[in-house]
Amino acid sequence: MSDNKPENIVEVRDVVTRFGEKVVHDGVSFDVRRGEVFAIVGGSGSGKSTIMRHIVMLGQPTAGSIKVFGEEVTGLGEIESLSVRKRIGVMFQYGALFSDKNVLENVGLPLREHTKLDSDFIDELAVIKLKLSNLDVDVAPLMPSELSGGMKKRVALARAIALDPELLVLDEPGSGLDPVSARALDELIVQLKELLGLTIVMITHDMNSLLNVADRAVFLGRNVALACDTPQRLAKSQYPEVAEFFAPARH
Ligand SMILES: Nc1ncnc2c1ncn2[C@@H]1O[C@H](COP(=O)(O)OP(=O)(O)OP(=O)(O)O)[C@@H](O)[C@H]1O
Ligand SMILES: [Mg+2]
Repeated sequence: MSDNKPENIVEVRDVVTRFGEKVVHDGVSFDVRRGEVFAIVGGSGSGKSTIMRHIVMLGQPTAGSIKVFGEEVTGLGEIESLSVRKRIGVMFQYGALFSDKNVLENVGLPLREHTKLDSDFIDELAVIKLKLSNLDVDVAPLMPSELSGGMKKRVALARAIALDPELLVLDEPGSGLDPVSARALDELIVQLKELLGLTIVMITHDMNSLLNVADRAVFLGRNVALACDTPQRLAKSQYPEVAEFFAPARH
């Protein structure tokens, strides 16, 4: 790595992704800056989750470059990518908790996988992460099936920050939540960002969430990053589909 403190935490350049005949990305480029909440938006099937999976190294693009923390991550194997992956916390779109593990075990899982800390210490750390996620320690022994939707998301968030990541990547964190719980989750995300000095990449469909939380956003459409800017400026985009999507930001 040439620079330990790059200004851009993520750099996506000319990314092409094909699944057989299907072209999802055809030259996608954007940057995520240190310390911002960066939203990825676009229609269903526009490739939001796919680009996220490239960034967290769970699937390779067909061509192009992706740098995370200044390091090229395309072409890295599972072992080589581990040191970068450990610095990224991830919450997946259908990011279910392990239903056969209780809350504390779910949160402690990344610590069990990636560290040699002893079990009691891992439990202590997991409790701290639960508290950071605004959950009471009483939920620790509960099974996922006993939790509300909002609590499940918080547990998933607690698990995503288990390894003290620098970058947090969230795929539709508020999906399936009622508006009040979704708003509370947004607040928590901003709180965690401030408290832990995180950079956040967040896929969302929720305009409210976008306006409350995102510093900048990229709109994926026509197989490229059609526009990338603040929500307010995107509301004035030359591309009708972008301007329409961000119209509420005009007010
Ligand atoms: N592993 C895969 N194999 C084949 N096609 C795939 C694969 N992953 C994604 N796709 C296709 O790529 C396209 C983009 O999918 P992706 O899940 O990234 O979209 P998205 O923007 O996240 O959509 P949504 O808003 O519905 O979550 C879709 O047409 C999807 O079917
Ligand atoms: Mg998706």
